[in-house]
Amino acid sequence: MKKKVILVPLVIALGGVLTYRLVNTPPSDNLPMNDMMEQILTDGGCMACHVSNPELPFYANLPIAGDVVKEDIRLAYRSYDIQPMYDAIRNDGTVSEVDLAKVEKVIKDGTMPLAKYYLIHWGSSLTSKETKMALDWISKHRAAKYPNSLAAVEFANEPVRPVHDSVPVDLRKVILGEMLFHDTRLSVDNTVSCATCHALNTAGVDNKRFSEGVRGQVGGVNAPTVFNAHYNFVQFWDGRAKTLADQAGGPPLNPIEMGHTSFDDICAALAADKDFTAAFTQVYPEGLTQATITDAIQEFERTLLTPDSPFDKYLKGDKTALTADEISGYELFKKYNCATCHVGENLGGQSYELMGIKADYFGDRGTEITFEDHGRNKETKTDHDMHRFKVPGLRNIALTAPYFHDGTKATLEEAVKDMAHYEVGIDLSDSETALIVKFLHTLTGEYKGKPLTNDNM
Ligand code: HEC
Ligand code: HEC
Ligand code: HEC
Repeated sequence: MKKKVILVPLVIALGGVLTYRLVNTPPSDNLPMNDMMEQILTDGGCMACHVSNPELPFYANLPIAGDVVKEDIRLAYRSYDIQPMYDAIRNDGTVSEVDLAKVEKVIKDGTMPLAKYYLIHWGSSLTSKETKMALDWISKHRAAKYPNSLAAVEFANEPVRPVHDSVPVDLRKVILGEMLFHDTRLSVDNTVSCATCHALNTAGVDNKRFSEGVRGQVGGVNAPTVFNAHYNFVQFWDGRAKTLADQAGGPPLNPIEMGHTSFDDICAALAADKDFTAAFTQVYPEGLTQATITDAIQEFERTLLTPDSPFDKYLKGDKTALTADEISGYELFKKYNCATCHVGENLGGQSYELMGIKADYFGDRGTEITFEDHGRNKETKTDHDMHRFKVPGLRNIALTAPYFHDGTKATLEEAVKDMAHYEVGIDLSDSETALIVKFLHTLTGEYKGKPLTNDNM
């Protein structure tokens, strides 16, 4: 045992000297921007820990030191996969907003690379010059790929952006889509429409833990709002629908939700309505099909945006739109990493994240794990995706209780405390929680020129 204790630091120190000699040449100023960023991610060791199959250093096979290294790598990849960002940089592609926010945050805070790592790999901690270069690269990439023309100049580089007033749509399709969204003929017994679970006067949700579909059947996962769903990178908690049109094809054939067995039945039911069919065929000459019905619904859902929340007014430059407490809440929201997953216009909807990175959410919940709890794993079947969920958007969140995919949290206070505990690894005080909740209340926007409300509340 004694031998090991001396040998390990020795080998590590030696390895450090060698590695230092081999890798530590800071990127030169003449490198193209992307090459410079690629080199920082490699030299900083990010690629040695945050990928599924890293090249292990020679000491990874030694006892003790090796186990520590392997555990760091396991935890690192479990919490953050940097490969897509690295690939996008190499291929001159687009880095996701979540990756930009996450890497920006750890570099700003100086928390990555892990101190443990650069003690071994001398010189791999980022120099102040590299830090500046990396942050600069991130804000330039953000400006180029995620233009933020609505925000005031001072907020142009924020991880969160204002909602657009509107996006381009075909109004004739919107009108048809709005009718279909409220049409119970999409359900087998004429009792349920999309609006049954996503009514627009109740903030696009039903405020139930689990929704009730045809014949009183109850589902197994909480209904997210349809407002601002347009911004999500995929739809559903497990991301199984790529677009809103794909999504709209789901509920009508879901045995619990609307209960039809095929779109042919739905088309036949709608075709019996001569006036509707005539109006529909004017816009869609190919007539009633799954593709045209879901296209019209998608077009309508593109109009379900809620701009001009107090927070958006603030981002656009109106300093009086938020109180001092609400601004402090936003600062805490950024300080505690919330704005690394809850990013973009919808404050979320751009990535899958593990529920329970820092503590065992499902163990603590204490109830049996359901199929819905598997999250993204339902689709991909990989271990890595177990309990990973599409991050929900936080727009209008004050109106959409209960919270989480399992609908277990009745209040925002509980949801915020859980997020800090399970996703960030800190326990918030009541006063900090209250400030963040005040901030979240400023995310209620306007629909058709009036503040969104919820008749259930
Ligand atoms: C020695 C391995 C190691 C290296 C090198 C390393 N990380 Fe990490 N990283 C970790 C571990 C371990 C965690 C925490 C995982 C956890 O707590 O579950 C982490 C967490 C993170 C997170 C998640 C947010 C957070 O604060 O927990 C990000 C983002 C991240 N690292 C980015 C980077 C970047 C960028 C680099 C390169 C500059 C880097 N890491 C280098 C091991 C490493
Ligand atoms: C019986 C209640 C019910 C009905 C009816 C229903 N939904 Fe949903 N909706 C849900 C639930 C529950 C989810 C979450 C399911 C999941 O993620 O697996 C959901 C998810 C969604 C999402 C994804 C939002 C996001 O953030 O991922 C959209 C968009 C949506 N529904 C639109 C519709 C449309 C359009 C219709 C009509 C064609 C419809 N829903 C009918 C309950 C319902
Ligand atoms: C690592 C990514 C990540 C971080 C960091 C994070 N969240 Fe979340 N957030 C999620 C995921 C994933 C969910 C959905 C979890 C579920 O339903 O099981 C979620 C859900 C929520 C919800 C409930 C939304 C709903 O519609 O049910 C709120 C509120 C929330 N987060 C706020 C916060 C706050 C406040 C912070 C900072 C203290 C934070 N989040 C940090 C990923 C994250």
